[in-house]
Amino acid sequence: MDEPALHPDLEPIAFLLGTWAGEGEGDWPSSGPFRYGEEMSFEQVGVVLAHPLGIVEVAEGSVSANAIDVASTAVAITGTGSPVTELRRRFELEGNVLRYELEMAMREVPLTRHLKGELKRAMPAEER
Ligand code: HEM
Repeated sequence: MDEPALHPDLEPIAFLLGTWAGEGEGDWPSSGPFRYGEEMSFEQVGVVLAHPLGIVEVAEGSVSANAIDVASTAVAITGTGSPVTELRRRFELEGNVLRYELEMAMREVPLTRHLKGELKRAMPAEER
């Protein structure tokens, strides 16, 4: 099925569309540092980000030609979701490399960098 045309409001962040793969490193007080492999796909889903772990974020911030910087203005959690209070994300595209960072705060844990990753395009956007 053909994808609908991109909404003009999403043009500034269209550079994310497609599938990316690479590696990252993370940290959290309960686990200590860890490394992970990752494949990430961006499709047109609107502006609200919902996670299967029971967290929904609304984030606002700034967008430039190759970077996105956002901080949560609202975080809603289900009864069983972890008590996350704040999330900040930064994405930066340099050539074919997409770098990102995620900072997170939880009840009783101040804002801490949870993840940092470096991904490369795994599939061109037009072949998804
Ligand atoms: C590549 C993606 C991610 C990896 C590999 C990862 C990995 C981890 C690890 C290893 C822990 C420590 C768990 C423990 O001590 O038992 C953790 C904790 C946590 N992560 Fe992530 N994480 C990822 C993405 C995210 C995202 C996107 C969110 C939220 C939007 C998130 C929310 C949390 C929360 C809330 C905790 C603390 C859980 C608690 O103490 O109740 N993580 N994560």
